[in-house]
Amino acid sequence: MDHLQVFLDHLREHHAVFYGAVAATAEAMPGTFRRVGAPMADWAHACLGDDFARVLAEGYVHLVIEANQAQMRYEKRGSYEHRSYAEVYEAAYGNEAFMTKYHWGLYVAMFAWVHHLRLFSFYEREFLPRLGEGLTEGGREVVADLGSGSGIWSRFALDAHPGLACVGVDISPTSVDEARRMAASTGFAARSEFVLGDATAHRLVEPAHAAISSFLLEHLERPEALLDNLAANLAQGGYAWITAALTAAEIDHITEFRRESEIVRLVEDAGLRVIATLSETPRAARSKLRFVPRSMAVVAQKRRNDIW
Ligand SMILES: C[S@@+](CC[C@H](N)C(=O)[O-])C[C@H]1O[C@@H](n2cnc3c(N)ncnc32)[C@H](O)[C@@H]1O
Repeated sequence: MDHLQVFLDHLREHHAVFYGAVAATAEAMPGTFRRVGAPMADWAHACLGDDFARVLAEGYVHLVIEANQAQMRYEKRGSYEHRSYAEVYEAAYGNEAFMTKYHWGLYVAMFAWVHHLRLFSFYEREFLPRLGEGLTEGGREVVADLGSGSGIWSRFALDAHPGLACVGVDISPTSVDEARRMAASTGFAARSEFVLGDATAHRLVEPAHAAISSFLLEHLERPEALLDNLAANLAQGGYAWITAALTAAEIDHITEFRRESEIVRLVEDAGLRVIATLSETPRAARSKLRFVPRSMAVVAQKRRNDIW
């Protein structure tokens, strides 16, 4: 069965207002939309059963409404609402009802938002091929996924490289449970470990072959602590995939990045060499607004010394 189509039909029927933008993404990037969306819809079906389309659609609608309202308040106020991580933990990561919707909403945004699909194309081109370096057939090199959420970024890395396993670290019990459930229901449990922990402090037993941290930096009071820990967990010469949101308000965004160079600087200060960057805006971003939300990706490599 074409589960992606089942999801799209459900969205069109029950949330028509939200369907148009997703259909426009599918039309703008048909190949990438299907390459990302089709396996994700299959995995969601395996994990959630026949109710999957409703869960995905409700999560997505919740995320879009929350994000749009937060962005409007930010436009007026000129700063993000929350400054303290403790407040956000209470409202979001530790709140199971909120987190379930958020988890599946973010999952859908991976293929429903055209700017995220562009980041994914960049991931396929600039990051995934580099992970092949130093991998042995049948080996079990680890990719660390810090703030893993559904674990979707590392899942695509495991798909591309059979010699890889992943260790995901997330502070939300709901996200860890859902990520474990999906790995188990799609036959990836033996190559995936998801642990409850703080990505700014958690240490792997051995340095990782590669590291991913996607859309966590802006959630932290001290984003540099995440990048320092990512670098500490990464083997010398290992590659990293880091993404962050700029001037994009959400209930759980604390650190407001205004310029792409701020993120490049943080990555460099953590001991990584920046190889490639991409910054994308959502299609609907209007130029008359003060804050244009962006999503940025950085591909980097752990330096062997201060100079390189
Ligand atoms: C925006 S989501 C991104 C999820 C996933 N990386 C993705 O790109 O789809 C942020 C995730 O970071 C987790 N998180 C927040 N603070 C964290 C921390 N200090 N350590 C580990 N995970 C954290 C949240 O629970 C949430 O799952």
